[in-house]
Amino acid sequence: MKHTVTTLKQQKINGEKITMLTCYDYSTAKLMDESGAESLLVGDSLGNTMLGYPDTLAVTMEDMIHHCSAVRRGAKDALLICDLPFMSYQASVYDAVMNAGRLVKEGGAEAVKLEGGAEYAPQIRAIANAQIPVCGHLGLTPQSVNVFGGFKVQGKDETGAFKLMEDALAVQEAGAFAIVLECVPAELAALLTSLLAIPTIGIGAGNGTDGQVLVYHDMLAIYGGKSPKFAKIFADVGAVMKEGFAAYFRETKEGSFPAPEHSYCIDAELMEKLRAHYKR
Ligand code: KIV
Repeated sequence: MKHTVTTLKQQKINGEKITMLTCYDYSTAKLMDESGAESLLVGDSLGNTMLGYPDTLAVTMEDMIHHCSAVRRGAKDALLICDLPFMSYQASVYDAVMNAGRLVKEGGAEAVKLEGGAEYAPQIRAIANAQIPVCGHLGLTPQSVNVFGGFKVQGKDETGAFKLMEDALAVQEAGAFAIVLECVPAELAALLTSLLAIPTIGIGAGNGTDGQVLVYHDMLAIYGGKSPKFAKIFADVGAVMKEGFAAYFRETKEGSFPAPEHSYCIDAELMEKLRAHYKR
């Protein structure tokens, strides 16, 4: 079944949890799609996971389009959402619409996501009016790391909690089809989820949201960096990969790889002839 912004909204109405994972390449997209992913997010977290930056600020539109189009080729049924990277929408509504359009036209995205609350309502409204579904992102918004002074839980004090609630209402009112809530207290996220008509997708926001998203490098333990508290490891793929790499290096050194079953044959008479010719 093809998942769309409409089916996600219907899942909220039905009380059926929404699943989302980050994805950055063709092969992983294919595996996730075949495993039943409902939505794939080409997150600007690719700056950390794929490009090794300390944060997402250096990620460009070209990076996002490059990875999104690879995911597009691997994803069939999952809804494909792509992040607008830092400074692709902050400066003007025009930038926001044109860059959202590039993610759709050049990256094959079916929806875009941007970080920020009421201050970006004009951008959200304009993107939605351009017929591009747009997802909000509130709480710990990594593009604001320098304003937050680090990667910290948001909405814990009175001012922060009220701001988060008002921002979410503004983002919904501007026309977003869903909101990602990152690193916010579970009870606050649950209250917000009960207030909003659009789905909330939590990451470090407890169990009361309409869906969950994780960075797949975290949940498969393949990211060399430090994983956040909320990122449960569902399979230690990192350890399996290291075992596989080490076994290949060992067998290559020993000469036990490649074995005959990994090699191609040639006619015995032809080999005789070659050996005689080259005296080997
Ligand atoms: O960039 C990203 O991967 C994200 C998720 C953490 C929601 O925005």
